[in-house]
Amino acid sequence: AAPVRIAPSILSADFARLGEEVRAIETAGADWVHIDVMDGHYVPNLTIGPMVVKALRPHSTLPFDVHLMISPVDHFLDAFAAAGADIITVHPEAGPHIHRTVQHIKSLGKQAGVSLNPGTPAKMLDYLIDDIDLVLIMSVNPGFGGQSFISSQLRKIEAVRKMIDKSGRDIRLEVDGGIDAGTAPLAIAAGADVLVAGTATFKGGPDAYADNIRRLRGGA
Ligand code: DX5
Ligand code: ZN
Repeated sequence: AAPVRIAPSILSADFARLGEEVRAIETAGADWVHIDVMDGHYVPNLTIGPMVVKALRPHSTLPFDVHLMISPVDHFLDAFAAAGADIITVHPEAGPHIHRTVQHIKSLGKQAGVSLNPGTPAKMLDYLIDDIDLVLIMSVNPGFGGQSFISSQLRKIEAVRKMIDKSGRDIRLEVDGGIDAGTAPLAIAAGADVLVAGTATFKGGPDAYADNIRRLRGGA
């Protein structure tokens, strides 16, 4: 299996110093920058838009993994692509035509991800798996950092791992929500190869980021 990638969610960063925070996690060994976009409608919280993504772009060489929790989503795809997103992930529950949305992301030259909420079955991917680059399994209900990992999602990670392997395609399997040094090994054992972590990356401030990321990889 591919070495696990760590994608810190900047939702738990200091929003008054976002540029520095993004530089600090890169220095600390992060692989991707996970950017949670919320609209106060699809999820009960408001975060950041394309202007902030654009402002952060010069501060990092890492892939920007943009998780869109917004509805409707389609009319924002071009703006996030232009702002510097590398991976754009959307929720099938947030719109009427997920297949069309995936094609739109690909037409912008970006990697397309599909995210499944805790109540959404893996089967949702049956007719998308041949077109996507990433599956994002939500192990909390989307909207906030700092929630507890929902263990029933481990079975879904296992099921999606099988679907991906069967497809033979190069698809990342990312898990988001409640990931810490205790739950990371469970998600990895179930088949995840990218771990999103907000609280567990940013706790303790910049001096702790490198150790925090090392622990998520299974280090002491
Ligand atoms: C939740 C977001 C997550 C969140 C994870 O809607 O998608 O990325 O920031 O936060 P932690 O790691 O604190 O559970
Ligand atoms: Zn997220």
